Amino acid sequence: MNAFIVQVTSSEHGCFAEEICKLIETSAKQRGTGIAIRSQEYIRDKIAEGKAIIALSKSRQLVGFCYIESWSNKKYVVNSGLIVKPEYRGSGVATRIKKKAFEHSRKLFPSAKLFGLTTSLPVMKINSELGYQPVTYDRLTDDNLFWNGCQSCVNYEILQSKSRQNCMCTAMLHDPDSNDKKRWEFVKKSKIYERFMRLKKSRMNRKSMVV
Ligand SMILES: CC(C)(COP(=O)(O)OP(=O)(O)OC[C@H]1O[C@@H](n2cnc3c(N)ncnc32)[C@H](O)[C@@H]1OP(=O)(O)O)[C@@H](O)C(=O)NCCC(=O)NCCS
Repeated sequence: MNAFIVQVTSSEHGCFAEEICKLIETSAKQRGTGIAIRSQEYIRDKIAEGKAIIALSKSRQLVGFCYIESWSNKKYVVNSGLIVKPEYRGSGVATRIKKKAFEHSRKLFPSAKLFGLTTSLPVMKINSELGYQPVTYDRLTDDNLFWNGCQSCVNYEILQSKSRQNCMCTAMLHDPDSNDKKRWEFVKKSKIYERFMRLKKSRMNRKSMVV
């Protein structure tokens, strides 16, 4: 589990940008769901700015990655593009990357609200352990640049048909000003949640076909 190093990136990690982009693209295709696809140049910039987290094996092979974006004039922060190479999955890599990204985001943007949009159960689980709560989309940024990132998602048509108020992803928010420190009991509810997601998917797909 500790056979890899999780760290904030610097320009020396720019050489991994191409591999990261390919991994994200392949995974998006396999899952058939959306991840905002970013160019190699964008990822390389994030890496050089120290706005990304990378996990490397002791032999300096890429293990996993995620990057940090800010929106609405730094009022909101998102940790995006989380990816772990298939051979390293299930051993806590994503948990460590997300924890580091969370801590680093809080340091870079101490008053920002952190949010995420995801269809991934492991990610929802990690987020809930970090203190994120599920919220409706109106609690998220209204920055058009953020929402434009969803254009590369297969579900973009659904998002548009719902006027950006709902889609396949679950929205989760960590508000540093909130007094509500209750954690979402995701572990207990995940089976129910999986059923809910299947239902939501079939209903949304049906409705998006009826224009
Ligand atoms: C999602 C992903 C990042 C998870 O990486 P990982 O390193 O395997 O995750 P972890 O080992 O840290 O697991 C996190 C938690 O989720 C659980 N989990 C892992 N896979 C799961 C699955 N398929 N279903 C439900 N829970 C799962 C783990 O048991 C763990 O919980 P625990 O701490 O209680 O044991 C990885 O599978 C991946 O890269 N997938 C493709 C890209 C993707 O989906 N990115 C997210 C986009 S929002």
